[in-house]
Amino acid sequence: MNHQTPRSHSPDTVLISTAAIRRRIARLAAEIAKTYDPTRELVIVAIWHGSFMFMADLLRQLHRQGIRTHVDFMTLASYGAGTRSSGRITMLQAPALPVKNQLVLLVDDILDTGRTLIRAIRWLRQRGAKNVKICVLLDKPARHKVKVRADYVGFKIPNVFVVGYGLDHDKHYRELPYIAKLRQR
Ligand code: IMP
Ligand code: MG
Repeated sequence: MNHQTPRSHSPDTVLISTAAIRRRIARLAAEIAKTYDPTRELVIVAIWHGSFMFMADLLRQLHRQGIRTHVDFMTLASYGAGTRSSGRITMLQAPALPVKNQLVLLVDDILDTGRTLIRAIRWLRQRGAKNVKICVLLDKPARHKVKVRADYVGFKIPNVFVVGYGLDHDKHYRELPYIAKLRQR
């Protein structure tokens, strides 16, 4: 990999700190645990790639709450190389776990226009998932274009493009341990 490649953007302002993310996820897991029957396993379907860091931390907090999970991924693509959605959602990889009659928690990094989540929910319902709830780390209410509501939201944020903690811009910055606003140079 060429680390010298000039980037047209750089993350500057920290919007949500590592400590704030950690505290919020612990509370989210407690909220989630309240609504699930601990005798049943919860199927977590995480939308790849953006949710990987959030999902990993959320799972460990759910474990502390006594929730047992099965984990799978779904790859849906909507973004190209820029900061604007193409509006077209393509299913690149479906989850392998059977979802019929299962309690499913769909986990994503961010609810932006909502098109990705609508597509994911439809797919899961068509395959007989019994109860599909949505958990997102970030929600940008000003950007919603379709009717979709997340059951569990980490943080509501304004209409800014953010990176870090799994979220990328053109494949960069996923490794940042915090959420930063992207500044256009
Ligand atoms: P949608 O517009 O709700 O379908 O969002 C689809 C996907 O776009 C999200 O799962 C993210 O991966 C990505 N996305 C939306 N907003 C941002 C952002 O501010 N930063 C990085 N990725 C974003
Ligand atoms: Mg995503």
